Amino acid sequence: MSDGRSFVADLDARQRAMLAEMGVRVWAPKAVAPVEPADLGERAQPAASEDPAHAAARPEPVRVAPPVQPAPVAPAPARPSVTVPAVDVALRPQGIDQMDWDGLRAAVAGCQACALHRGRTNTVFGTGDVSADWMVVGEAPGENEDLQGEPFVGAAGQLLDRMLQAVGRSRQGQGAQGVYIANVLKCRPPANRNPQPPEIAQCEPFLVRQVAMLRPRLILAMGRFAVQTLLGSTEPIGRLRGTVHHYQGVPVVVTYHPAYLLRNPIDKRKAWADLCLAMDIGGTPLRR
Ligand code: URA
Repeated sequence: MSDGRSFVADLDARQRAMLAEMGVRVWAPKAVAPVEPADLGERAQPAASEDPAHAAARPEPVRVAPPVQPAPVAPAPARPSVTVPAVDVALRPQGIDQMDWDGLRAAVAGCQACALHRGRTNTVFGTGDVSADWMVVGEAPGENEDLQGEPFVGAAGQLLDRMLQAVGRSRQGQGAQGVYIANVLKCRPPANRNPQPPEIAQCEPFLVRQVAMLRPRLILAMGRFAVQTLLGSTEPIGRLRGTVHHYQGVPVVVTYHPAYLLRNPIDKRKAWADLCLAMDIGGTPLRR
């Protein structure tokens, strides 16, 4: 099944509960979006068809085709506003831009281009199907990720998985049901401190190569460091959301980091709006 309306109808109780918990509307393709009462507010209300009492009393909701509004597209920046520090490129594995997946994974595993390699248990390369048409880019491994060698396996990762599930995708899925997840940094910063510009500069060629091989239809950039790295911008996320940016020619949607959303659940509704934008430009969701 490949139709977004079917996906909406097929949301199971758990998915609907999760969306309700997030305070979000159920996304539907723009061409047939239902008209929402102006006073509904942002919190998802049970649809009349879900509530037998209302189903009997209320007429079917009117559906009209609203004019399709293209998502705003950010002009390509003349040059990044983030200063790229001078780093010793000789410390990096050579030929990253020619590597295949196995070569790149091995290069990351053996990388000693910055001091982070001294404190790592495992490198965290990335996970998911390499034919997935969405890519999520996060910040850096935390303690759990460092121990397991996989991105987003802690509490933030569980929220990320639920967000992806709500749009019919998962790290186990393939193609249009999959997502490939990687971080800007492949090694854990000590005590979960912020990534430092020289660390990002040394590690970015790995991400560049991952994107070049994946050629996803869409990149979801989660959090400040992913956004700064991909867009070369120091603008706050709140100013960059809602606009389609580009990285290596791939559309980029900016959203909040799941760890931020755990601390600021009020912004989950904005994250859902970002996922709706991602679905608008990155393909309709499919039933899992
Ligand atoms: N936060 C991230 O940005 N990436 C991870 O892999 C885990 C937490």
